[in-house]
Order: sequence, then C-alpha cells, then structure tokens
Amino acid sequence: MVTRRLPHTVEVALRERFDAVLSTADAQMDGAALQRALAEADAILCTLTDRFTAEVLAAYPIRARILANFGAGLDHIDLAAAAAHDIVVTNTPGALTEDTADLTMTLLLAVLRRAGEGEREVRSGRWTGWRPTHLLGQRITGRTLGIVGAGRIGRAVAQRAHFGFGMRVLMWGRSQPAPELLAATGAEWASSLDALLVECDVVSLHVPGGDGTSGMLDARRLALMPPGAFLINTARGSVVDTDALVEALLAGHLGGAGLDVYPNEPQVDRRLLGMEQVVLLPHLGSATVEAREAMGMRAIVNLEAFFSGSAPPDRVG
Ligand code: DGY
Repeated sequence: MVTRRLPHTVEVALRERFDAVLSTADAQMDGAALQRALAEADAILCTLTDRFTAEVLAAYPIRARILANFGAGLDHIDLAAAAAHDIVVTNTPGALTEDTADLTMTLLLAVLRRAGEGEREVRSGRWTGWRPTHLLGQRITGRTLGIVGAGRIGRAVAQRAHFGFGMRVLMWGRSQPAPELLAATGAEWASSLDALLVECDVVSLHVPGGDGTSGMLDARRLALMPPGAFLINTARGSVVDTDALVEALLAGHLGGAGLDVYPNEPQVDRRLLGMEQVVLLPHLGSATVEAREAMGMRAIVNLEAFFSGSAPPDRVG
C-alpha cells in the first residue's frame, strides 16, 4: 500500500516488483484509512503526512510488517508502538541531503537579501526603479552561521555556507562528528546550544522533530540570539515555539526568519503571513526530481531487503 502519489519512475518500479496498491487520490489519509491499510497490506510505503500514532497502531488486526517511510524524518510514527506490534520501520536518509541543504541556503539568501519582499514588489507593480537605498539587505560573506544538528543535512549546509559563501560556521548537536567529518564542513564545534546562539548572526535548524526537540528554540533561547539575528528552519515546525518566534519578530529582536516547516502543516500561523521580513515556503526541502526519485528507490531497497529476509539498510525501529 502506497499512501501518496510518487514520481512516475518509482511507481513503475513498485508495480514491477510488488503487488502494489498505488495512491490515486494523493490525499492525506486519516487514522481510519491508515488502520485499514495496516489490516490489509503486508507493507506500507508511507510519508510524513501519515500519522502512525500509538492509537492508530493499536488497530486490530494488523497484517502490515513494515512501514517503509519515504523521507528521513520519523516524528509522525510512534516508533515504540510500531516495535510493540513487531512492525519494522525504515526511512531514506542520504537521499535528500544535498537538496535540503540547497533549500536551506535558498531561505538564508532570500531572507538576508530580502528576496521575498522584492519579488512581491515587482509582481504587484509597486517597483519604482533602481535607487541606492532600495531594499538593502545584509551581506552574507563574513557572517557567523550557527548550525543546530550535526547530521548529514547540517553538515552539508555548513560546507556550503563556509566554503561557498565565506561564512564562519559554528555547529552544535547531540554528538560531535568525527574530526575528519567536522573538518570537511569548515565548522567549529560549539560547547553548547546556548553558547552557539549568542554568537550567531544566522541560526539554522537541522535536528529531528519529536519529543526530544519540541520547543527547543523557545523564548529564552531566541532571546539569546543577538539583536537582528535570523532564524532558518528546514527541520520540523515543532522545534520552534511559534508564539515566541512571532513575538521576537514583532519586537524586532530577530531581523527575520526563513521557514519551510510548520507545527500543523499545511496551516501557517496567520501572524507570520503578514510579516515582510519572513520568507515562507511550503515544505520544499527535498522537492527535487532527483531527491524524490532517490527517496522512492531507497524505500524500495528497504522493502526488497525486508521481504528477502535480509536486514533493511535503513532500519530505524
Ligand atoms: C523528510 O524526509 O523528513 C523531509 O521533511 C521530507 O522532505
């Protein structure tokens, strides 16, 4: 059972290799629909819009033995509940690293150079022509970027920012990467998240969603960022306390924000919609043809490994 439309090549491969029930509606499935899938299918190829909560996974009977997630983030699956029902969970790390890092840079550049404001001005016919004081943004080169989360995507962003844009990069995460991996990013390791926040002109989030990181960027931590600093979030909406972010932006403490993810997607806090200094994207981090095909093919690799009796390479639970 495949819960959403996938790139054509992936759907063709699924049809060739499995008795696949593909999605035609391409709509978010509710709990009852997911429970029907759990009861009817041997495997579910799911995405971040499928909320496999403990309640959903308490369905009876359950036929499904594997949830092969199309994507890296797993905060939509209760891994403990899946394990309790002997359901294997896999994801697709690596397939979306470069593209999500590129989108992070897209947001960083757009926010600091006021690209959203400029685009809206041109489209609305309000542009009156070149002038020396028009829409002045901030120089990127030489600024300090703080990367929160030292996984694949955080490291790929650090590398781009440091070697591509001449930024000083600080990094902090749950575990410090091996010295050679850290050196390849050009980043310096920060002693703590708080120590990173006080030093950075721009902070970019790359931690997983879920209980461990929910509200990590709260009012206290946002207040630690220097006045005029910018926040970029391509990780999960839950990592940032939205009320605290809105207040920091309204108060002028933060200079702007670039957001690709939100706590209750596709809803976006209305207060953010009216803010010129905020760039808002609709969860596009991995939205390239290449990444989405690679994610689908990787999910297939995991499914084939599982059903051939070997260990799926991306087993997480
Ligand atoms: C993921 O893999 O979790 C991403 O958010 C999907 O783009």
